[in-house]
Amino acid sequence: MEKQFAQLPPTKGSADQFRQLLSNLVVNAQDSMAGVGGKLVVRTAHIKSSRGAYERISLVVADTGSGIPKEIRTTMFEPFISTKGEKGTGLGLWIVKGIVENHGGRIHVRSSAGKGTIFKIVFPVSRA
Ligand SMILES: Nc1ncnc2c1ncn2[C@@H]1O[C@H](COP(=O)(O)OP(=O)(O)OP(=O)(O)O)[C@@H](O)[C@H]1O
Ligand SMILES: [Mg+2]
Repeated sequence: MEKQFAQLPPTKGSADQFRQLLSNLVVNAQDSMAGVGGKLVVRTAHIKSSRGAYERISLVVADTGSGIPKEIRTTMFEPFISTKGEKGTGLGLWIVKGIVENHGGRIHVRSSAGKGTIFKIVFPVSRA
């Protein structure tokens, strides 16, 4: 596992929800590398505002696992979508999406079969 944590500005939000978001993404990454192993990267960055652009914080959770199966690429953020059978409820990404929306953020996903997956979440910094 590689951690790359930037110095981040304080931002308003729910610490509980951030924790839940991170744990859902990390567990998914871990599951995608189960048995074979691989590399997990968790990275944060501070995207400073320039010329009227919003100041933002980004969080990347990347793995070198199986990749997201093609058949669920368009539905994976809906509830109860899972490829893990008994072991998954399919609620993790739905919860992640809700938390990101609660904080005005955006989710970007890149995934490639057999190579891995990158989740990048970008939040606006909220000082109010
Ligand atoms: N990092 C990842 N690599 C590969 N597939 C992933 C990854 N993250 C999510 N997926 C796919 O998306 C599906 C939905 O993920 P989600 O977290 O919503 O549910 P789950 O992990 O199956 O169950 P749980 O509710 O326990 O989280 C997973 O079953 C898996 O197929
Ligand atoms: Mg999950």
